[in-house]
Amino acid sequence: MSTVTLTINGQPAEASSGTTILEAARRAGIYIPTLCDHPDLPPAKGSLAAKIIYQGILKIENAAPQEAGKGCGLCLVEVQGETDLIGSCATEVRQGMMVITKMTGSKPRGRRI
Ligand code: FES
Repeated sequence: MSTVTLTINGQPAEASSGTTILEAARRAGIYIPTLCDHPDLPPAKGSLAAKIIYQGILKIENAAPQEAGKGCGLCLVEVQGETDLIGSCATEVRQGMMVITKMTGSKPRGRRI
């Protein structure tokens, strides 16, 4: 496994190839909020949503259970050269990648998770 060098919020960082942006940020001490990311579960990308969710005795049925999940979107970051915001929990680092975790509002709030 090779080492990738990237920049997060202007701070140089290194990570093994195959590491997600989220993991690289955490190792560099940079906080990115998450909701659906869990270390024991695969990324939500491509996963089918639950057909039914229970909140106590309330049963909530999914209106579109056939659509693949895109995750919660809480971990979105800006990546230089990308037109949309990127889900950091499901995107692997690349050599020379420049990541900004604090939204500047310069990119549309699109989702590509
Ligand atoms: S933490 Fe939910 S999409 Fe990344």
